[in-house]
Amino acid sequence: MTPDLSLQLAPRRERNLPLANPVMTASGTFGYGTEQHLFDIQRLGAIVCKGTTLSPREGNPHPRLAETPCGMLNSIGLQNIGVEALIRDKAPVWAAWRVPVIVNIAGDTVDDYARLAARLDSIPGVSGLEVNISCPNVKAGGSEFGADPAAAAQVTAAVRAATSLPVLVKLTPNVADIVSVAAAVAGAGADALTLINTLRGMAIDVVRRRPVLGAVTGGLSGPAVKPVALAMVYQVAGAVDIPIIGCGGISSGRDAIEFIMAGASAVQVGCAGFANPRAPLDVLEGIEQFIAEKGIASIRELVGAAKG
Ligand code: FUM
Repeated sequence: MTPDLSLQLAPRRERNLPLANPVMTASGTFGYGTEQHLFDIQRLGAIVCKGTTLSPREGNPHPRLAETPCGMLNSIGLQNIGVEALIRDKAPVWAAWRVPVIVNIAGDTVDDYARLAARLDSIPGVSGLEVNISCPNVKAGGSEFGADPAAAAQVTAAVRAATSLPVLVKLTPNVADIVSVAAAVAGAGADALTLINTLRGMAIDVVRRRPVLGAVTGGLSGPAVKPVALAMVYQVAGAVDIPIIGCGGISSGRDAIEFIMAGASAVQVGCAGFANPRAPLDVLEGIEQFIAEKGIASIRELVGAAKG
């Protein structure tokens, strides 16, 4: 018997989002999927592309990356090609793929998010939106919206009203109470939640006596954040009834299974791909091996299994 790895990320929506398996790539760590030739990306559950804004962006001053013990800091600043180039150059490629592509969208204002959602609504090749209210590296928008339940709900409702695509909302861990933000976003019409984005952090160059990153602070990702992400997934899963996508330090099938047992229906692999470009596939194969060894018929049996 072949175990069933499939799931639905937007089960209540007419334009739903079926995934063949729970392994997705995390926004900003996998480009547009078109750059990746090291393994068959069609085997993945879904691809999430780099955060996309209405106009192209150059991003933050360099340096933008710093390695840390068990992770890395990034302060890219949402460098991206802009929505029109994405529609012209990337979406037609995606339209021929089996793997669904989800566009991560970011804006400075609520109206920016709504305009992006409306523009992407009927573009072949775009299977869903991930609303980025959690980027810690931009002056306007980003985690400013994700830090406040009312503002997070306002963005979500505006996107919901502008599109019939499945809407995922990516949450920031840089808040006192992620559960209240998650509940507000779910109440405003999100189909699923992605958590977590990066934790704000910094590094100092002691020779130059200056911050390492050009933008001073950045977002921490990698194995160091996994316990934080896992705890937040567990907490939020107890409070909302929409699918959760776990993200934060996942580099193996066992990591992914931990997130699924904490309550995630799917997982995103991000930082691990910088050290091991095959990481998303390794995670998928690790999940397959785990459920085959344990004789589990469907991955869905494991969702929230650690809740007792
Ligand atoms: O700086 C960046 O582009 C990061 C984006 C994010 O964390 O969502």
